[in-house]
Amino acid sequence: MNSQDFKFYNPAKIVSGNQALDSLGYELSQLQAQRLLMITDRGVLEAGLIDRVNESLEKSDDISTVLYDDVPPDSSPAAINAAARVFRENECDAIVAVGGGSVIDTGKAVNIVVSEGAEDILELKGSKLRKPMKPLIAIPTTAGTGSEVTYAAMIRDPDRNEKVIFASYQLIPDVAILDPRMTVSLPPLMTAATAMDAMSHALEACISNHRNPVSDAHGFAAIKLIRENLLPVIKNGENIQGRSYLANAACMAGAAFSNSGVGVIHALGHALGGECGVPHGVAMNIFLPHGLEYNMSEVKDIIAGLLLPLAGPEVYVQTPKDKRAEKTVEHIRKFKDHLYELTKLSRTLNEAGVKSNALEAVAQKAIKDAAVYFNPKKITYEDAMALLEKAFQ
Ligand SMILES: [Fe+2]
Repeated sequence: MNSQDFKFYNPAKIVSGNQALDSLGYELSQLQAQRLLMITDRGVLEAGLIDRVNESLEKSDDISTVLYDDVPPDSSPAAINAAARVFRENECDAIVAVGGGSVIDTGKAVNIVVSEGAEDILELKGSKLRKPMKPLIAIPTTAGTGSEVTYAAMIRDPDRNEKVIFASYQLIPDVAILDPRMTVSLPPLMTAATAMDAMSHALEACISNHRNPVSDAHGFAAIKLIRENLLPVIKNGENIQGRSYLANAACMAGAAFSNSGVGVIHALGHALGGECGVPHGVAMNIFLPHGLEYNMSEVKDIIAGLLLPLAGPEVYVQTPKDKRAEKTVEHIRKFKDHLYELTKLSRTLNEAGVKSNALEAVAQKAIKDAAVYFNPKKITYEDAMALLEKAFQ
């Protein structure tokens, strides 16, 4: 696709700010929702974040809530089907997903099952969604996946040891509520890993072969906000303004890649998650500089331009034009080193505990991943192996 011919679709209403959660009741009333299925996981529940959501609904007498709190770290068909049964048994009419990417993706997948009248999410793999969806509100408790505004839901099929992706504009939540009170207790390591997922969305969206000026604008703004706010937030988790900016960055990066796609970094990350269980944000942090270097021959000028949001105007103007692309990669490496010093976020596959004998299976899976379609440079098995070996240590 020529970047001058594009579509950009992001219908999610974004409600952001220090008190954003307080508008949940109003947003539900706008969607004519009264009987909610609230989906979350145990960690979010134990952190007291569901109490906070319930408090925001105290004045909404006409709204009742049923809770499903058993979402695993990687959204699974069993959890999705169980939550869909709870939705039906309680005659719910809307879904509120409170959590990280796995929980929000579960919310989207439950919406598919209940809207399509199915019993099992896997029955619907590869089929077109035909029925109107139920209202869905996403309240992220991490600032990373951008799932609150994306068109995709990724689940893990444990029987086949693979990730299954559902993608449709219909899956985009109606409302994304970004309230820094929901991310303030996120530990430094998780804050770093999830932010580097958002960073990878922004960078890959900007170099994608489906990039366009509108997704570029979202991507550039997200990279700048992460550069300015991630290290300060890791040093002081209570930095509410910084938390809010990171949430905005993750959301914009999500809107960017939801429209222009991600590439080889995600292809490798999906495969590594499926084969070795490495958390997605950790994988993104590991593969980021290698994926940029791999694409240098195709999109060097674009990678050079990314130095501006990534390093700031001073570094950008001080770097000769023909050195900016390499400087972009160098900055990513420096950023990773800072994060490692502060949080021990793995920089290499070796540090993440991946065994070298797993790499061939990861490479095989990565070259079949849908994300390679959007990567500016074609990728063969040998290319994937070479990338994995570089990322090893
Ligand atoms: Fe991602």
